Amino acid sequence: MEFAVRVPAKVNVYLGVGPREDNGFHGLATVFQSLSVYDEVTIEAASEFSIVAQGEWRDSIPTDSSNLAAKAVELVAQATRHEPSVKLTIDKSIPVAAGLAGGSADAAAALVAADALWGNVVGRDALEDMADSLGSDVAFMLHGGCALGTGRGNILSPVMTRGSFHWVLATFKDGLSTPAVYSKLDELRGEDFFEEPEVPTELLAALAQGNAVDLGKHLHNDLQRAAIALRPQLGKVLDFGLEQGALGGIVSGSGPTCAFLAHDEGSAIDLVVKLLGSGLVDGALHAHGPVHGARIIPQ
Ligand code: C5P
Repeated sequence: MEFAVRVPAKVNVYLGVGPREDNGFHGLATVFQSLSVYDEVTIEAASEFSIVAQGEWRDSIPTDSSNLAAKAVELVAQATRHEPSVKLTIDKSIPVAAGLAGGSADAAAALVAADALWGNVVGRDALEDMADSLGSDVAFMLHGGCALGTGRGNILSPVMTRGSFHWVLATFKDGLSTPAVYSKLDELRGEDFFEEPEVPTELLAALAQGNAVDLGKHLHNDLQRAAIALRPQLGKVLDFGLEQGALGGIVSGSGPTCAFLAHDEGSAIDLVVKLLGSGLVDGALHAHGPVHGARIIPQ
């Protein structure tokens, strides 16, 4: 018996970051949108635990118990009283350490896959609790679609959207460390910073209306200046995408991926070609969103 789960990447179309809290995390007001760049995680029973990595980014992920997907399997195994002796195959198309929640995506997919392997007995609430304990973005990767995230980003409520938005992702081989980007933001803001973040209603209206032009105007990421401080090249990439006609451009999450919103599929593909020819990026791809979260692929 083998189960395969497909899971998307995400972009934060808005990422408001509050001050660092006593638990070390920052309070967020964020809007996630899942994007059509997918990893595939397959599970099958085996004599011992192993991870096999495949796909474009296979060399960039750990294949031991430090992989978040391994921790996800352990949680489901404990809850269902099974030994976590499975083979996980992770087919990795989502860039790693890129601000696209690729590691969280694989963890969410592993939760769904392990639950399926062991009889679908865990239940949605318990899966969500497990997702929370694995990382701030894992809960959203279970859900997908478009959602408002508060708390660490893990408390979700659905956001209305109409139609599809077309994105271009400019990618880089070298990742950025999420804790390092948050720490840089703290340093840039200084100790007196206390503002609580809030998602602007104009952005929510643009999503509800399917209005890409308005959404482009309201894209925002508080982590962007920290990511640019650590990797100044990202400022040039954002300028280039906007000069080439993107409706808006932001660093995705903690970066370094830069996400550009395009008018439509045709202009997105044009921008991919221009970015690839610019010499500024290692890769560029077109994606649309929102799409479903982690789902079993029917055999
Ligand atoms: O939850 P996750 O494991 O993805 O977080 C990775 C790191 O990112 C945390 O250890 C923390 O440094 C930072 N972070 C944060 N505030 C958040 C989410 C993440 O400071 N809301």
